[in-house]
Amino acid sequence: MCGIIGYTGSRQVRDILIDGLLKLEYRGYDSAGIAIHNGSLRVIKSPGKVSKLVELLPPNLDSTTGIAHTRWATHGEPSEINAHPHTSGSGKLVMVHNGIIENAPAIESYLVEKGYSFISETDTEVLLNLIDNEYELCGGDLLSAMLKSFEKIEGSYALAIIEKGRPGRITICRKDSPLIMGIDDTGYFVASDIYAVSDYTGRFIFPENNDIIIADRELGLKAYDGNGKEKELKISSFTARKKNPDRTGYNHFMEKEIYEQPHIISELANSILFINGQSACGNSLAEIIQRIRRITILGCGTSWHAGLIGKYLIEKHVRIPVNVEYASEFRYRDPVIDPEDLVISISQSGETADTIAANRLALEAGAITLGILNVKNSTLDRDTHFQIYLEAGDEIGVASTKAYTAQIVQLSRLTALLAGIKGNGSTIGDISSALKNISGSMQQVLAGAEKISALASKYAFTNNFLFLGRGLNFPTALEGALKLKEISYIHAEGYPGAEMKHGPIALIDFNFPTLVVLTDSESRPKMISNIKEIKARRGRVIAIINENDESAEQLVDDVIKVPSVPDIVSPLISVMPLQLFAYYVALLRGCNVDQPRNLAKSVTVE
Ligand code: F6R
Repeated sequence: MCGIIGYTGSRQVRDILIDGLLKLEYRGYDSAGIAIHNGSLRVIKSPGKVSKLVELLPPNLDSTTGIAHTRWATHGEPSEINAHPHTSGSGKLVMVHNGIIENAPAIESYLVEKGYSFISETDTEVLLNLIDNEYELCGGDLLSAMLKSFEKIEGSYALAIIEKGRPGRITICRKDSPLIMGIDDTGYFVASDIYAVSDYTGRFIFPENNDIIIADRELGLKAYDGNGKEKELKISSFTARKKNPDRTGYNHFMEKEIYEQPHIISELANSILFINGQSACGNSLAEIIQRIRRITILGCGTSWHAGLIGKYLIEKHVRIPVNVEYASEFRYRDPVIDPEDLVISISQSGETADTIAANRLALEAGAITLGILNVKNSTLDRDTHFQIYLEAGDEIGVASTKAYTAQIVQLSRLTALLAGIKGNGSTIGDISSALKNISGSMQQVLAGAEKISALASKYAFTNNFLFLGRGLNFPTALEGALKLKEISYIHAEGYPGAEMKHGPIALIDFNFPTLVVLTDSESRPKMISNIKEIKARRGRVIAIINENDESAEQLVDDVIKVPSVPDIVSPLISVMPLQLFAYYVALLRGCNVDQPRNLAKSVTVE
């Protein structure tokens, strides 16, 4: 994961680097560091968040060239030594790196034989010293050294290097890991995403895989492909929206984002569905859909859960077969994909490494690709043929909440569009009227937050939880379990109701409570049987029920009542109490709700 920021030009670099690191902290927050060039190379690093690094920095660093990094540990624990930037054995190169060097152990042995020793446990130091070795051999020509080194490397990288002997220069390269450049009249910026630099410039370069770009304050820009051949760079100009890290009125971003949902969903439901910035009706995707034989939905984590809801909706109302795949499995299992497939990549960030790679595989196989994305100008935004945006605003809390419900809404509206194209007009009306009326019901769930908080205190110190749901609310059970485990560190498993009998029921006793989603009418009778099976084994049950479901209330230990809505939109309502429940449990357990341990907002390594 990790975030890279760098600058060379005529401005002072200190604040650019700090500001960029803070904007990139969503990619990792276990350690951070910066390197500057002011005659000599100087590196300052610290374990912990960017704010800790800032405490160590002198107010005036007096430098106009520097690189910085915020880390999510892949190789080696979060520590000052393992934090980036790393300095090469010769002391002439300093580098920041995102990605993973898969053959690092073999390269390390090769370098040890050449006399290198290593102070960190990172694959980055191995790659840097490989470049350093070539750099020494070819008389300080970094371009040649990088080209030679990359021949020996397996893995992915986005990296930026500064050189002791070249004070105003940053050299960058990327392979399968995002890195962009920004340009303004003062100099050159480099960053993992454009939002780290978009306050300074609206002119960007998106390097292709294997491109090496030298940004030199005096000499300008030079770019080379992976064979060392000089190439032209394309500069794109646009104004990127600014991030809004403000949570006024709320204790946490997650809380704010949960409470934003009724408004976001109402705005979406009452707007026209846009694909590639044009109305979905009459869009060229609508024509393409006519010849699509199969849909594959790709995603990870919460986005994958939304994809499962998409499958249930599309298969039921459009009658096109839909596969939902973990992007990480899809990309490595040699899937059968052809030009008659529509591949939908769902991603809040648009930067998830596995989803990007899986989408690219689909593109190479000739499939039509559609991104359902929150972050505009992200890698997946650029890498897909068609895009539908979530319009949910910045999601800053690591646990996804509003992006999930917005994903469900956009998948529902896509279902309505596809159903219309396939001649099933009634679905369009059902979905759009259900969505238009949903926001009031979502508000009602939020109005019951205090009761959910009280319930959380009853169960906050339980060690395990089972979540059950069926049909459209099976993904709700998965999502509820994921929310609880990621922010409160309670072990939780989500299962389809009927699957419980095939193993998990062995876990049930008084200390292993089950949260049952009982809101959709179709699966209700079957879920009631599941509840009885749990109660027969002394298991405690909390049920999410519709407000007038008195008979269910008699059966269980605790209930969370939600307004009754049409089944087709019930996942939007049922997930909200689960988000709130996880939030309150995490607070009671003293967890860092917005930045849970070991996680990052965007998983940018595979
Ligand atoms: C869970 C969560 C993650 C993400 C997953 C995919 O709350 O946020 O599971 O859903 O890492 O991220 P995106 O949607 O950015 O591709």
